[in-house]
Amino acid sequence: MGYLVGLRCLVCDEEYAPGEVEYVCPRHGVDGTLDVLYDYERIGAAVGREDPARSAEAGMWRFRPLLPVEAGSTPPPLLVGDTPLYPVPRLAAVLGLGPVWVKDDGRNPTASLKDRASALAVVKAAEAGAGLITTASTGNAAAALAGLCAAAGRPSLIFVPVSAPPAKVAQLLAYGATVLAVRGTYDQAVELCLAGAAAHGWYNRTTGFNPYMSEGKKTVAYEICEQLGWEAPDAVFVSVGDGCIIGGLHKGLRDLLALSWIKRMPRLYGVQAAGSNYLAEAWEKGEDPLTKPPIAAHTVADSISAGLPRDRLKAMAAVRETEGAFLTVSDEEILAAIPILARGSGVFAEPAGAAAWAGLAAAAGRGLVGPRDRVVVINTGNGLKDVASARRAAEEAGAATIEIEADRESLERALADHGIGRGEA
Ligand SMILES: Cc1ncc(COP(=O)(O)O)c(C=O)c1O
Ligand SMILES: [Zn+2]
Repeated sequence: MGYLVGLRCLVCDEEYAPGEVEYVCPRHGVDGTLDVLYDYERIGAAVGREDPARSAEAGMWRFRPLLPVEAGSTPPPLLVGDTPLYPVPRLAAVLGLGPVWVKDDGRNPTASLKDRASALAVVKAAEAGAGLITTASTGNAAAALAGLCAAAGRPSLIFVPVSAPPAKVAQLLAYGATVLAVRGTYDQAVELCLAGAAAHGWYNRTTGFNPYMSEGKKTVAYEICEQLGWEAPDAVFVSVGDGCIIGGLHKGLRDLLALSWIKRMPRLYGVQAAGSNYLAEAWEKGEDPLTKPPIAAHTVADSISAGLPRDRLKAMAAVRETEGAFLTVSDEEILAAIPILARGSGVFAEPAGAAAWAGLAAAAGRGLVGPRDRVVVINTGNGLKDVASARRAAEEAGAATIEIEADRESLERALADHGIGRGEA
């Protein structure tokens, strides 16, 4: 199977051959998340870092030799990845920083970074000969799976908490997924999905359980480094719920280092909401994420609300091994970051995406990053995912519509009253 050589348990380091285990370490159950191992020597001999740009494939599949899929497998026909990396000098200047870029993964087909993982899940499910694909999700992973399944003409079964935001549920229904809205928390939806999939043999995409999801998400790291001319940034900021994205980011960078496609590892900063701070708290207090009990998570950033982050081992390793940090930001800081980012860059983020920008602002304030650092902030989800929060945030920042009568006189009065167009006409 490509250059995949095995899977290693993050708890006991036991290694398994490809196909020997499907999801987690049999000795450690759901705690025993697996890292996917590759033969870097063979990859390095076969492909160079200039090859993905010349690939006949599109988006994340340009990096197929670094993905755990069979050479001939067909990806779903939606363009996933190849999202833009924008320099944001005006925003950076406000924070007293130097070169800062925003990687806008809200530009993916279902409008979040989760498309990268779900595209891989659809391929893995087909390779496994599975019929139904299922996942539990706070919303975006579900929308991504539903969309990519629709593209591939496959059925999907989705578990979401009943509180999932309307835009994400609308996506699920439009894509034709079967949606189970669980009267409970996201964590309860995960438990139910795991139990149902085990009992009925569905292919399970659930984050932190399926080891291949961070393999899909790692492609964001490849693209960032490629877009920066293979000169890795000094620091990357990303929001963290279950920890799969930051784990995948780390994995992608480790791959690139192992292949010598980049020369150094960036510091990874995981940004959590203050009301969903499991990993940040464990980090600060030196607690063991294997024994730390779940917390009650509450935040406006629904995508990063996780009482027991499923990929906590990969997330911890990402921050520890890169000498980064976990940071927390309040819901107010998250909401405020939505119009700041939108006005300063044109990138419209959902709360979980804007949280990463709020985290950068906090880190700049604490001196964790400075003007000499080359910094990338990942927007993980599009602002249209949560219009109510965006509107609230913009209004709290002083924005308001100006309602007028449908006549010329009212228009002129409004222009005069609000000083509109002076010096701009
Ligand atoms: C927009 C967005 N940002 C961040 C995250 C956090 O990713 P993870 O749960 O892998 O930490 C998610 C996960 O749902 C998301 O949808
Ligand atoms: Zn194990």
